[in-house]
Amino acid sequence: MSALEEMMTTEDIRRRVEELGQWFHNLDLGGVKTAPDHFLGDYPAIKWQRFSTAIPDDLRGKSVLDIGCNAGFYSIQMKQRGAERVVAIDTDEKYLAQARFAAKVSGADIEFRNLSVYRVGELNERFDLVLFMGVLYHLRHPLLALELLHEHVVRDLLVAQSLLRGSKESLDVPPDFHFWENEVFEDGNFPRMYFVEKRFANDPTNWWIPNRACFEAMLRSAGFEILGHPEDEVFICRWTELTAPVNYTKELREITQ
Ligand SMILES: C[S@@+](CC[C@H](N)C(=O)[O-])C[C@H]1O[C@@H](n2cnc3c(N)ncnc32)[C@H](O)[C@@H]1O
Repeated sequence: MSALEEMMTTEDIRRRVEELGQWFHNLDLGGVKTAPDHFLGDYPAIKWQRFSTAIPDDLRGKSVLDIGCNAGFYSIQMKQRGAERVVAIDTDEKYLAQARFAAKVSGADIEFRNLSVYRVGELNERFDLVLFMGVLYHLRHPLLALELLHEHVVRDLLVAQSLLRGSKESLDVPPDFHFWENEVFEDGNFPRMYFVEKRFANDPTNWWIPNRACFEAMLRSAGFEILGHPEDEVFICRWTELTAPVNYTKELREITQ
């Protein structure tokens, strides 16, 4: 129990949790659940338990960046594994306020910043482990975001998760196609990204939903080698030198300078 947890009564915590609005992360703060009626169940704990063993158990001496940290569930887990430094960013002040409170109650020393994934270059730092969980499909420019992670912040491991729809198959895409080829594009296993012009799950911030082959292809194309797939939507990746036939770095610098 953290010092703050000891000082605050359950009623104090419950009141503050309510004041902080609706929670997406169901955390247990001194016995108070922050989102007990989450539509995905005990989220994200149920997801975490399906891939937690795929991430180093001992993070002592390591730095972690949690992108789209929300109320800080994963950041707190990383501190509990001994991470020396955890930086957590999000663009929503409501979630950052929740995360700051949750970290305090949990006694976790985490640096929170209101920063978009598109501006990770401003951190001027590479991290041993970068978490990019549940953010990709909220972006209008998801490939740009992956390229920025590669260019600026991932030193070694990237843990990436996305909502996926369509085929769950992986696909080894042939190196080239004839100009008149069409059939392959009708194959549901081919890398596909579904564009949400209106709404998905009544959330106006959902834009692009890839199938599995597409998410994998985007990760590889942005310079990440896929090491593992411990959970349907989760990929453990390692930073690699770009091998794409067209190196995007020049274009990326033109866009972002
Ligand atoms: C579905 S939640 C995922 C939260 C958490 N990473 C998880 O996996 O449980 C998406 C989070 O990404 C944040 N987000 C959306 N756009 C972002 C952006 N451009 N940069 C950083 N965070 C963003 C949202 O505010 C929200 O907290």
